[in-house]
Amino acid sequence: MVRGGAPLRGEVSVSGSKNSTLALMAGALLASGETRLRNVPRLRDVDTMLEILRALGVRAEWDAEEPRCVRIDASSIASPEAPYDLVRKMRASFLVLGPLVARCGMARVSEPGGCAIGVRPIDQHLKGLAALGAKVRLDHGYVEASTTGLRGGRVAFDVSTVNGTQNVMMAAVLAPGESVLENAAREPEVVELATVLNRMGADVRNAGSDRIAVRGVAALRGVHHDVAGDRIEAGTLLAAAMITRGDVRVTGVDTSTLESTLDKLRETGAELEVEPSAVRARSLGALQGVRAVTAPFPGFPTDMQAQLLAVLTLAKGSSVVTERVFENRFMHVPELQRMGADIALSDRSAHVRGVARLSGAPVMATDLRASAGLIVAALAADGETSVSRVYHIDRGYERIEEKLRSLGAEIRREG
Ligand code: EPU
Repeated sequence: MVRGGAPLRGEVSVSGSKNSTLALMAGALLASGETRLRNVPRLRDVDTMLEILRALGVRAEWDAEEPRCVRIDASSIASPEAPYDLVRKMRASFLVLGPLVARCGMARVSEPGGCAIGVRPIDQHLKGLAALGAKVRLDHGYVEASTTGLRGGRVAFDVSTVNGTQNVMMAAVLAPGESVLENAAREPEVVELATVLNRMGADVRNAGSDRIAVRGVAALRGVHHDVAGDRIEAGTLLAAAMITRGDVRVTGVDTSTLESTLDKLRETGAELEVEPSAVRARSLGALQGVRAVTAPFPGFPTDMQAQLLAVLTLAKGSSVVTERVFENRFMHVPELQRMGADIALSDRSAHVRGVARLSGAPVMATDLRASAGLIVAALAADGETSVSRVYHIDRGYERIEEKLRSLGAEIRREG
């Protein structure tokens, strides 16, 4: 329940990155020995990944004493099979495929299936593993991959895929010989995974460019690592500051990973003070309409599209937001319309005409970032908005209502 209108003010720190954490947890499967991840966000998706690792017979748990620390020891993997019941809860579970094939020579992982934001195929993950010498077949809803021994190979991805790049990179680090990943994703979560794999003993070069080179090594060891702050949570809190005409300093995030988001917020009228790991946003004059197109990193992130759109509903003039990464990621639009937003959808673009006010209404969350967009809008709407199905937001934001309340928002969780 959100009562809109209060300008957000103050300082807030972001949690560790959800998407980095999930990839790093899968990466821990590659090491013989314990990996400790710190600054791990307490999220449902992290618990799901822990469950998956345990289903593989790996020791995986929250540390009993140290908060936000996860310990994973994959010295032995009892059963390289990730069942449907777990994989269907979270697509990122599919990230265990590459590490399992590399460690065990075989893996059986449920196909993740469709999801709310689009079809999301896995063909690029499979093509990459095949190029490294895995035999891949689909059987009764499962991907079965086996090999008598991976070897280095060349993969040219047809689309830029974050988890696909990570999956294939993880398999390649234990594949003897040289691998080259062309048209690789350049997201910070790919770079962080490569950095950690290298500290485990891998030889991955040029992560962050679109051509990653990997020289296979015989084995990896466990490491300790502090997960980077979540750039999408940071962007979401800044959007909330903007729409409420507030003044918020967000800390704990590498701001060099936020540039395209900060550029758009600046265009909408934000006054920004950017430090290496903090950014203060103030919204003083009127909000301005902008054009934005989502794209792989370093472009404007699809994971910020709903939150930006929410801000633009109250911006002067017209805006166009085009979604180029996922084909069905405008499910928040009908809900924003119910709050009085003037948005027309055509193909992959949302055409927004700024309105003077939004009005609180009951709305429904359909996926993680859509729910973030609805909460951002609700913070500026007249009266009360109830956002239902908030379990979506708990997948990716740790105690979002507490963080927003600490900045002066009137928000509470019911039920
Ligand atoms: N694609 C294919 N074939 C593949 C893989 C991807 O065609 O084999 C397509 C997808 O359908 C999509 C595009 O490639 O059109 C990009 O998808 P990508 O594979 O990069 O997405 P992902 O790796 O499955 C991660 C994040 C998403 C984020 C996207 C894009 C994780 C766990 N998830 O997904 O995060 O939106 O990258 O940046 O890292 C979120 O956090 O809310 C979220 C959805």
